[in-house]
This record gives sequence, structure tokens and C-alpha cells, in this order.
Amino acid sequence: MVVSPIKPEPSAMPLSPLPTPWNIFNQRATPFWQESLGGNDEAHPLSLFVGRAAEVEELEGVLYGAGHSSSRQAIAGAPGVGKTTLVKQFKARARENGYFTVDDFVALLPNDSSEGLFGRFLSLVYETILANRPMTAGNSAMEAAEQIARVSKVTTGEGGGASFMGAGASASRSRALTAPKDVLADGVRILGDLIALVRGADTRGIVVHINNLETLTEADAAASADLFRALRDPMLMHPGLHVVIAGTAEAVQAVVNTHAQVRTVFSTLVVPPMALDDVHQLLAERYWHNRLDADASPIPPIDDASVADLYTLYRGDLRGLLKALDDGIRPNIRSAVTAEAGETRVRPLKTAEIRPTLQRRYASDLEALREQKRVDQLKAWGEQDPSATRTQADLKRLWKVSQASVSNALSFLMKEGYVVALPREGAGRTSYALSGTSRLIFG
Ligand SMILES: Nc1ncnc2c1ncn2[C@@H]1O[C@H](COP(=O)(O)OP(=O)(O)OP(=O)(O)O)[C@@H](O)[C@H]1O
Ligand SMILES: [Mg+2]
Repeated sequence: MVVSPIKPEPSAMPLSPLPTPWNIFNQRATPFWQESLGGNDEAHPLSLFVGRAAEVEELEGVLYGAGHSSSRQAIAGAPGVGKTTLVKQFKARARENGYFTVDDFVALLPNDSSEGLFGRFLSLVYETILANRPMTAGNSAMEAAEQIARVSKVTTGEGGGASFMGAGASASRSRALTAPKDVLADGVRILGDLIALVRGADTRGIVVHINNLETLTEADAAASADLFRALRDPMLMHPGLHVVIAGTAEAVQAVVNTHAQVRTVFSTLVVPPMALDDVHQLLAERYWHNRLDADASPIPPIDDASVADLYTLYRGDLRGLLKALDDGIRPNIRSAVTAEAGETRVRPLKTAEIRPTLQRRYASDLEALREQKRVDQLKAWGEQDPSATRTQADLKRLWKVSQASVSNALSFLMKEGYVVALPREGAGRTSYALSGTSRLIFG
């Protein structure tokens, strides 16, 4: 029997946006949000995607070039440069061109086990097929995969294991059927069946996204490199399966390029900083999308020259730039309003007007870090020359500590967003620079 869903009552009144100081720029809310584009959320649609034509073309070249075979690509780029958004755009286009894919991705976790990673990978393949072809739900491979998907969610704790367990009998039932240690034994066969299902469907293949290699420490990265080597054949090499993984250059280097068996089956795309013109375009698109009054033009909250100044400090870190714009402009919005001869005018702010706010705010965030030793090390660097790039050897001299402590200090300061690793030129050593946030603190 088919039960038709009950039509919900229309809500009494559509909610109008709450008043915010951003309204004076004809914006509904801040245009400087830092979320990746995509997903089902209206506020951050992929229609705001700008630039990156060469990168999208390269990704598509590998995907289409693989034909009925499989492909694996690694996307390497600095924090905040736009990696996740690039993959989301690539997936959206792949979907339009006849591939199965979903917005969601597999996260690589610290201390990941092969069962954990494989289980989440299999779950995402399952969800992708289900989302693209709901009528496959009753297929036997899909039912088997659903069991694994349940176990994987429960055991990794992603998305709240406890509430999932609370969902009732089904979780314990599936646990009885498939213990985590059996995920691999059963899963390898089930993944094969799922991919066979994809190959038999009216699709060109399936695109799976693994994200966030950047959260890994060195030890985790080494462990992940071993994981990928072990899982290469069972997880990555099925015809019709296309895998894209994104992470920082160091993480991709460590995870993908450590073992020849993995390196040779991946193509790596390095994502450079977005060109300044595209950054202006990115903001312009947001101002228009975010208009409060659709019949009037937006007023840019900051002028182009100031965006260019800040972008230089952030060296391509879009997330950092957007956050600085939000943090710097919000408390100063009132200065954008002037009254002349009884008429109110609104004008874009300038770097000089927001920089003192940013300096104060980021300096106090830094002071709030618990690791005083790291704070002092950062200060020693920043107070000497904030724009200098340094190698580990330079820092060893500056801080008068051992090589091991330099590398610990750098990991910490990078994780907290005060230092960035610069792309290596040729075979040279990695050098490091202060992040935009640190540059704002030390002037
Ligand atoms: N091509 C683009 N067009 C429009 N906006 C973009 C583009 N690339 C990135 N952005 C915006 O820049 C910000 C950072 O992007 P994203 O989250 O994709 O970077 P990331 O490299 O994945 O960052 P992280 O290192 O933190 O994971 C987001 O707010 C995103 O919406
Ligand atoms: Mg990301």
C-alpha cells in the first residue's frame, strides 16, 4: 500500500530577517561567512563559486580520462585556500555529467583504524547510491551495506554514537550481525557488490570525496599513509570508482606520497592562492546574493584596496581573510555612516579603520592561549620581523631550542593558525611564515 505523506500546514507568517547592523550595507547579515560552498543550504550556494577554471578542468580531465576505469586524485593546498569548495564544485559538475555523488565526504580521523576508515568509506558509497537511486534500497548488496553503515557510525562516534544507539533496536541488531572487526572481512566483498551495482546502473561512475587530511599530526599522517597502502586495492581500485582526497600539502605529501604503491596511483593537483581579481569577484557575488532589498544595489562594506592589503597578509588563505573582514568590520560599522546636510550616507570602510580592532582582538586571543612558551616563541619571531620567512634551522637559532622542539612548536603554531608552511620550491627546505592573523598582531 502506498501512503501519501500528509501535507504540512503552511506556517502562519514567513519570517523576515532580523535587523542587524549589516543592513546599512543592504546586506541581510554578514557577507563574510567562512563556510565552504555547497550542501543543501541556501545561504552558501555553489552559484557563488568563482574562478578556478584551470583546476576544475584538470580534475575533470583525470575523471573523464579514466573512462570506465577508476581514478584517484589528491588536492593539496594551504589551509583556507578553497580546497573543499573546489571539490564540491567538481562533484556538482560531475553529477550534472552523469556521475553518482553526494555533498557529504569521508573524514580521515586521528588514530583511524582500517575498519573505521573502510567502514565510513563504504557507508558513503552506500549513501551515494541511495541518494542517487533510492529504488536500489531493497537490493541485497545495499541491505548488507546498510548494516555496515550502521556499525561504522556507531563505532566511530561520528555524528554522535550515543544518540544513534538511542535510536533503538536496529543498532544493537546490526551490531550483533556485524562486529567492527568483521567490517573489513564482509565489507570488501560488499563494496565490490556495490560498485558492480553502480557499473550496472545508468551512470558513468561514482565520485567519493575524502576530506580534511589537515587535522593529522605527523604520527597520524604516517599511520594514515600505512592505512592507504593497506586499503589501496580493497578500497580504491574498483573500476567505476573515482576518489578525490583533499588536504594540506604536507598531509597529502605524507599520506599519499610516502609509499610508492599509493603515490603511483594518485594524481596530485596543487591549489594555488586565488588570484586577487577573483577574490574581488568572490566578494561581489556574495554582496549581491546577500542583499536585503533585492531592488537596490549592495554597498561594499570595505573598499577594494583594503581587501587587497589584507589578502596580501593572508597569502591566499580565504577563510582567514573572510574572518578578518568579519571581525574587523562588525565593530566598526557605525563609522561607515556619515550624516551630511541632514542626509545619511554609507561608504565602504578602509584598512586603517579596521586594523586597530583586529590587532587588539587577535593579540588578546593570542594571550589567551594556554601554552605561554609558544606565545613567547611567536612573539620572538613577530617582534623581530613579521614578514620574514624562516626555515627550521633559522627558528632553532632564534629560539635556542633543539630540532625536535622546533618541529613541535611549529606544529602547534600551525594548528592554532599563527604560522603557515610555504610551498616548497624545487628540492629546497620547507620555509614558514607568520599567518595573516599573526601579521595583524605584530604589524
Ligand atoms: N572558488 C571559490 N568561489 C567562491 N568562494 C570560495 C571559493 N573557494 C573558497 N571559497 C570560500 O572561501 C572560504 C574557504 O574555502 P574552503 O572551506 O573551501 O577552503 P579549504 O581550503 O577547504 O579550507 P580548510 O583548509 O580550512 O579546510 C569559504 O568561505 C568558501 O566559501
Ligand atoms: Mg576544507
